[in-house]
Amino acid sequence: MFTPEAEKARLAPQLVAFRRELHRQPELSLCEERTAAAIVREIAPLGLTIRSGVGGHGVIADLAGAFPGPTVALRADIDALPIVENTGLPFTSQHDGVMHACGHDAHTTVLLGALKLLAAAKDRLHGNVRFLFQPAEEILAGAAPMIAAGALDGVSEIYGLHILPSLPAGRIASTPGTFMAAIDRLDIVVEGRGGHGSMPEQCIDPIVAAAAVVTGLQTAVSREVHPLEPAVVSLGTINGGTANNIIPDRVALSGTVRTLSEEVRAAMPERIERLTRLIAEAHRCRVTVAYQRQVPPVVNNAACEAKLRRTAERTIGGERIVSCKPSMGGEDFALYAERIPGCFFWLGSGGPDAGSHSPGLHNAQMVVDESCLMVGVTLFTELALGLLDGSGESQDA
Ligand code: NI
Repeated sequence: MFTPEAEKARLAPQLVAFRRELHRQPELSLCEERTAAAIVREIAPLGLTIRSGVGGHGVIADLAGAFPGPTVALRADIDALPIVENTGLPFTSQHDGVMHACGHDAHTTVLLGALKLLAAAKDRLHGNVRFLFQPAEEILAGAAPMIAAGALDGVSEIYGLHILPSLPAGRIASTPGTFMAAIDRLDIVVEGRGGHGSMPEQCIDPIVAAAAVVTGLQTAVSREVHPLEPAVVSLGTINGGTANNIIPDRVALSGTVRTLSEEVRAAMPERIERLTRLIAEAHRCRVTVAYQRQVPPVVNNAACEAKLRRTAERTIGGERIVSCKPSMGGEDFALYAERIPGCFFWLGSGGPDAGSHSPGLHNAQMVVDESCLMVGVTLFTELALGLLDGSGESQDA
């Protein structure tokens, strides 16, 4: 290990305080103004080149090492979710209806901690570290504008992490290859002809048609995708009607489609459009289906994943690295890893008895075991130090 334990012990309580500050003042995607200001306030004295207002409220900080070499990037997302917090924590959200329920406060804190340790070690760096504090991940609108603003210019590889409440703090999980799913969005409007609930023969009922669409769409996966190929179609909203005895004119539905392979992904729009249209037409309704490809899968570069593993083995211990299956969750980290070699991994954030029963990401009761913060800091820091130690390891991504 390159970083003195005493330095880390000094940093740990500062990071807990910073994470709680962020947790108290969560900000929605595209509104991360105070969060970005808090980040800049912390890093301004450290002598890095800082760009703020990148792709919205993003912050990019460049640390120049003492010796020439490649540039590696470390990325965190900074935005929060429209959820009413129900944790009962003393540092619970003070912004009504907004919560750091996806742990981006922890991600931001981990990146800040690594930045502080690496800034103190810059005399040893053969190359540079770029720190990406990315906004708007929750609406998948942060990575693309950051990249357009040059976030990856000159960068040879990139790493990122996400907390995982079902995995005990102190552990991490990763896998080479496909790590998270592609995300596509589905919006459906079923239109009929409204009227009195007592006289269905005078109406064209979009509620019954929409109900048939909801159940029929389940066959897009169960009857049309190879059983060994992962795919998910979930409808998250269904809206229609104003009173119990009125048949409405229209029903709107929205959903998400997750796939791991491009082959399965490419076939989904036709399937969903066909099933939806023909089912709705069988009920005499008109239908519009909008299918939007949002982000590709997160694909971990095998060499980068191996470097993460080696770093974890020599810092937190090989027994703390869990191999995992790909997640059907998605992340706009995918957009970075699609352009340059990269690796994304899970940082355990649960208590010792954490598991699938633990309140998960996007849950109003999700809590973070803060001991995970220094685990993340250690991994990011040691990863960068190892890549930029002059041995050329970062070149073979
Ligand atoms: Ni998240």
